[in-house]
Amino acid sequence: MQYTDEQPAKLADTEYPIHKLLKKRWSPRAFSEKSIDTELLNQLFEAARWAPSSYNEQPWRFIVARKNDTEAYEKLASVMNEFNQSWAMDAPVLVLALTKTTFGLDGRDNPHAGHDLGQAIAHLTFEATKNDLYVHQMAGISPEKARELYDISNDYNPMTMFAIGYKGQPESLDEKMQKQETSPRIRKDLDEILFEGEWEE
Ligand SMILES: Cc1cc2nc3c(=O)[nH]c(=O)nc-3n(C[C@H](O)[C@H](O)[C@H](O)COP(=O)(O)O)c2cc1C
Repeated sequence: MQYTDEQPAKLADTEYPIHKLLKKRWSPRAFSEKSIDTELLNQLFEAARWAPSSYNEQPWRFIVARKNDTEAYEKLASVMNEFNQSWAMDAPVLVLALTKTTFGLDGRDNPHAGHDLGQAIAHLTFEATKNDLYVHQMAGISPEKARELYDISNDYNPMTMFAIGYKGQPESLDEKMQKQETSPRIRKDLDEILFEGEWEE
């Protein structure tokens, strides 16, 4: 395989064995300025395209901006909140992820569009990890600003953004983020999220 292993502190410390790429994935804030080959970037969205979706509606849409197109990049970056702007703007690619909120066939609301968008991004992230790229998703954005800047109609919902890039040096971040960048990743125990046959919460 072509990918390299993650530093031990960031590898998922799992109770059961899972795929190497799922163990390796995490959300860095320090990105290298190395650009992403266009072919490879398209490969990531190809992986997203093949995610399953309710009624095969494929309600995911993406607006992409690359750092070498300064105008487009700064426009998209302005949708993020100040905190996310403080670290994400080293990444070579920023993406705004939107859902189509209604079904193409009959215009009914699609209550599962957010579910499907998340799943498409998970596919993309897996493909990215395989290629030593990292994805950091962000809820800290202004959907209203995105709507205004890109003239997005009510049939679409700007939901999240994500940064894609190669890993950078934690030293490029402020002290608090540096600490998060190098500390182990934590999760709830399996018995807190998994219930057999009964709802126990
Ligand atoms: C939908 C979503 C929204 C998130 N929003 C932000 C955000 O606005 N800013 C940020 O720094 N991280 C954000 N994160 C990253 C999470 O904090 C991170 O995934 C979580 O702490 C688990 O860490 P890991 O991805 O390294 O395993 C977001 C992640 C997701 C999936």
